[in-house]
This record gives sequence, C-alpha cells and structure tokens, in this order.
Amino acid sequence: MHDLNGWIASLFEHPDLLRMGHAQRGVDLNLGLGWLYYAMGRILRPSVAVVIGSYRGFAPLVLARALADNSEGGCVCFIDPSFVDDFWKDEEKVRAYFASLGGANVTHHAATTQEFVASEAYRELDQIGLVFVDGYHSAEQARFDFHAFAGKLAPQGVIMLHDSVWRGSSPIYGPGREYVHNVVDFVDELKGSPDWQTFDVPFGNGVTMVRRQIAPPAPSPPSRSAYDRETFEPR
Ligand SMILES: C[S@@+](CC[C@H](N)C(=O)[O-])C[C@H]1O[C@@H](n2cnc3c(N)ncnc32)[C@H](O)[C@@H]1O
Repeated sequence: MHDLNGWIASLFEHPDLLRMGHAQRGVDLNLGLGWLYYAMGRILRPSVAVVIGSYRGFAPLVLARALADNSEGGCVCFIDPSFVDDFWKDEEKVRAYFASLGGANVTHHAATTQEFVASEAYRELDQIGLVFVDGYHSAEQARFDFHAFAGKLAPQGVIMLHDSVWRGSSPIYGPGREYVHNVVDFVDELKGSPDWQTFDVPFGNGVTMVRRQIAPPAPSPPSRSAYDRETFEPR
C-alpha cells in the first residue's frame, strides 16, 4: 500500500476525483474536506461506514483508506444506482476501479436508498460508525437517507451530509433534469430538533456533521495514556 501522500497522488491522477466540491487541491496533494472524512474514519474506527451517492468515488475511497489504515480494518458500504451516467453499472469494473485505488474494502450496491432498505444487506447492517449522505440533493431525499440509517447508528456514530450548507442549482442529471439542491432545508430541521447536534463546515460545497445530542457512555475503564498516568495520577 502507498504511504498517504503517494496514495493521494494516485487518486489525483484521476482528474474527476478533484471535482464535486470537496475542496480538494492537486497541486499540494490536499484532500480538502477529505481530511475530515479520513479523520473521522480514524477517530471513530468504525467496522462499517455507509456512503450514499458519489460521482467518481471520492468519499468512499477516502473512508475506505481510513478504515484500512486502522489496524482492525473495516469496510465501506456504498449505495449508488448510477443515475448520472454508466460509471457504477458494471460491477466487475467497479470492483477493479476501487481495488486499483486501495478500496478493495468497498462493497457497491447498485440501488437507490429506497431499494437498498428493502435488502438483506440493509437488514444485516448494525452499529454503523459513519454515514456519508451525498445522493440526490433534495431535502426530501436527504431526510429519507438520514433516517434510513439514523436508527442503525453506533452510540458514537456520526452522519455527514454533503452539499448541505447552501441552496444551488445542479445540472448533473442532464438537460431538462436540472434541480435545486436544498439539503440545507433538511439541515435546518435537524438544527431545530432536540435530538441532534449539527456542525456546518462551509468549505467546498459544504458538509454538515451530525451526531446524537445524548453523549455516548463514558469509556470504561477510562482510557489513560502513560503520559496521563505520569502527569495526573498521585504517586
Ligand atoms: C453525482 S453524486 C453528487 C456529487 C457528489 N458531491 C460527489 O462528491 O461525488 C450524486 C449521486 O447520487 C446518486 N443518487 C441519486 N439518487 C439516489 C438515490 N435515491 N439513492 C442513492 N443514490 C442516489 C446518483 O447516482 C449520483 O451518482
């Protein structure tokens, strides 16, 4: 496996992985918002992360790398019906593409979220550490995607919504199928709810991080480093 910078360079050999509003920069090998996705993968160390929607796989690949870098590993469940073009249609090509970029731990499901929630693969998912919502960017679909997985979230779990900070028009589905992104309206609903904490990160096309208001149980026994024991505990 490449070291991290070598791996980022190999990602950015695909110009499409520099697109789609994650604030990436090729010139200084900067993952942009991808650092946040990577960091959450390393901090939460989930055995499973879910990604809904991606143009060329930037978020699933970054999360796959983060989980692979955790010694216990982990896998990414990626749901995308390939509505923009044929990129996610051929399962063999999809597997080879992910594997060529260090994402052998990505499993792709060619389905909408609505179809996926009726599957055995969905029933088997539990204790999901991270959910990245980047599918159809209407408030209604974002609400569906969010609640499809909120009940399966681990106590420390986090849901990230992309394109969530501003309203904007998108031509991605082609002429006559332009639509207005209004995930921000769903995020406003979450901000009014006592159940969730939200944190907007207004870079690139913006991402919002969401976790339950209630704190997860304290670690038991409290995790103390040798430094903490030396410094803070009575001798
Ligand atoms: C093009 S991406 C949005 C761009 C994104 N910001 C990125 O970084 O790649 C949106 C994806 O959502 C997928 N999609 C559309 N409707 C969906 C649905 N109901 N369920 C799951 N995925 C969906 C599309 O196939 C498309 O690939």
